[in-house]
Amino acid sequence: MIAGQIGKSFAAEVYGIDLWQKLAPDDIQELKTILDRYPVAVVRHDTPLTDEEHISFSRLLGPVESKPVLTTSGSGKNRIPHFEIIDQSNLDETGGIYADDDRRLAFKRANRLWHTDMSFHSNRATWSLLSAHALPSDGGPPTEFANMRAAYKALPEDMKRKIGRLTAEHSYWYSRVAGGGPPATAEELASRPPARHPLVHERGGRKALYVASHASHIVEWPEEDGRALLDELMAFATQPQFIYAHQWQVGDVVIWDNLATMHRARPFDDRNQIRDVRRTTCREADPAEAS
Ligand SMILES: [Fe+2]
Repeated sequence: MIAGQIGKSFAAEVYGIDLWQKLAPDDIQELKTILDRYPVAVVRHDTPLTDEEHISFSRLLGPVESKPVLTTSGSGKNRIPHFEIIDQSNLDETGGIYADDDRRLAFKRANRLWHTDMSFHSNRATWSLLSAHALPSDGGPPTEFANMRAAYKALPEDMKRKIGRLTAEHSYWYSRVAGGGPPATAEELASRPPARHPLVHERGGRKALYVASHASHIVEWPEEDGRALLDELMAFATQPQFIYAHQWQVGDVVIWDNLATMHRARPFDDRNQIRDVRRTTCREADPAEAS
């Protein structure tokens, strides 16, 4: 297994690994070592993984979310019959492109804001694994990633001191409205309450800035001051020197560390072009045991 750095220093393409094959324990350890060095890793295949292969590989990296984490009011059935798969396509349960008034489409467009997956949950996402099944004819838009370890490191020392003990509240519904979606219904709000996390995530002696468009305010500060600080940190962390943009090919699986990066989808003609990408999400704790 070889990791070849791509783009900036935090992304790599991993060669010599087929995710549809059952990996030996040594291979898994080797991959985890690569992922520890490169929080964005790309594995290319000629054809997409099946959903079953995608899920079983994801389980090798950690506990996988296997039930819905929130409710979208009035939405139809899931297109993909596995709760482990988050359907990030623009397709409804019939396989057709979403209707204009489908809330799921409006909410998915908010993924164009910088975020880290599931920061709105107390049991945060660790690894996300996004698999490309079908793309627009020109390959479609890239997914952009921001290196939150490098961003933290580059912060002025007085800012590091300022944010060291602060906590942000994260709400899925806050970012949906910020991204142009409709206000959440009472049913939606009840299905996923907000969660609070420190602004700085530390693991193994390394620190990363932990912010996202889900972050609505700073718990310890007046709302307006906290909002201004979050805006400043988001702008700082998404400067060009911290960004890698992944240009997709069908069959790609991109694995990223949500505790060391942010990401965003980019716009495309989602009323006319099909983009079928599917995600699994590993969690800090086993969802079956955590709340
Ligand atoms: Fe995401």
